[in-house]
Amino acid sequence: MRRVVLEGRGNFEEWRRAARAFAAAGILPDEIDWHEKSREPGFAFQRDALPPDPSAGAGQMSVPADFMALAEAVICHSDPRRFSLLYSLLWRLQENRDLLDLASDEEVSRARLMQKSVHRDAHKMTAFVRFKELAAPAGGRRKFIAWFEPDHYIVARKAPFFQRRFTDMDWLIATPKGSAAWDGERLTLSSAPCEKPDISDATDDLWRIYYASIFNPARLKVKAMQAEMPKKYWKNLPEADLIPGLIADAEAKMLSMAEREATTPLPYHRRIQEAAARIPAPKLAPAGTLEALRQEAATCSQCPLHAKATQTVFGEGPADAEIVFVGEQPGDQEDLAGRPFVGPAGKVFDEAIAQAGINRSRLYITNAVKHFKYEPRGKRRIHQKPNLGEVQHCRWWLKRELDLIKPKLIVAMGATALYSLTGEKQKLEGLRGRPIAMEEGRLLFVTVHPSYLLRIPDEQRKAQELARFRQDMNLIRGLTA
Ligand code: URA
Repeated sequence: MRRVVLEGRGNFEEWRRAARAFAAAGILPDEIDWHEKSREPGFAFQRDALPPDPSAGAGQMSVPADFMALAEAVICHSDPRRFSLLYSLLWRLQENRDLLDLASDEEVSRARLMQKSVHRDAHKMTAFVRFKELAAPAGGRRKFIAWFEPDHYIVARKAPFFQRRFTDMDWLIATPKGSAAWDGERLTLSSAPCEKPDISDATDDLWRIYYASIFNPARLKVKAMQAEMPKKYWKNLPEADLIPGLIADAEAKMLSMAEREATTPLPYHRRIQEAAARIPAPKLAPAGTLEALRQEAATCSQCPLHAKATQTVFGEGPADAEIVFVGEQPGDQEDLAGRPFVGPAGKVFDEAIAQAGINRSRLYITNAVKHFKYEPRGKRRIHQKPNLGEVQHCRWWLKRELDLIKPKLIVAMGATALYSLTGEKQKLEGLRGRPIAMEEGRLLFVTVHPSYLLRIPDEQRKAQELARFRQDMNLIRGLTA
């Protein structure tokens, strides 16, 4: 049995030299007793235990690149068994090049866990190193010192990160597992353990202020916080002494935040529904009239859309109107007002009929679907297109409205209205802008929906389309004049 004592302390080259020499001499893993100097006071580095360095490379072992990355991390781990574990893997890899892909292999799994722990420790170092400023000679570079207590020998591994990040200042990171120092030109690494320096400065208060101000009691998750910032790091973080107090006060703070928060008003439709419930039921209109149909539709629950809507938005206008305009479904404002086309699309519509000389009070205006379909998003209700099934359910009402009114001309505004009126999915373009004969001597006129005009992003195109819509309104007026 060969007994070999290494410095350890994250020095990969040291282990590699020893492993190469043993491997070249054909020494098997269980013939070597690996030791770490820091744990064996009194032992010197035992060069004698090593065979001569294989200068010509004869008998050397080759390894996949993945092993190098693994070994460089594992060698930083503080477990003294890491040297023998790596040497054993090195041997076994000669037999099986894919060994490291075997997650179930006991040695591979141990090595992977060590690698992970080293990566995690290195990550924590980048997050929890807190530099304190030291007095510097006038005009000289600013000097900083930090104390950190890693689990593993990661200082040399992480030092280039700090060199890149804090290149403009001189710094020293001292740890019980070695140190790194940067003076603007040279990065000096040492594996000698450091004593904790007695340092604290004004930046401690800055850290505390910063931490207290970003701490959100409503988001407090103690387990997640402790996983991110394990307790063992707290003693070297100036802000950490605030944590127990912040956690203890979190509940009270959250309640007071909730009290100060603006209260959300009841959704409009609930208020309107409550108000509507207080109004005495209207006298029943004579059967077979448009008013009776409206009263009937007010309690329609044939499809799920009624559940979320404020109310049924039935058609509006004289029962003997010559022209019936049909839209898609009420929007947000129509749902609240209980009247069709009173929102933004209604404005476009009103303006277009007015320029054509059409009097809105002479029209009957209705929709293919009588309830507002939407999706709540925050405090807003976003319009959702009704699906074919919903349109089919509601056709029953539209048909009765038309049967009672018996208009000369029906205007379908948009594809949903066209589908509801004809029962066929058709493109608007081929049918638009001319009267089409329907049953019972009625005419159908197809045009776009005013909301479509509102959605056109390009101003020039929008103006063109608006002009076309107005032209359609002029044609409509001509058809009934
Ligand atoms: N869009 C419609 O289709 N109808 C309305 O009543 C309002 C907007």
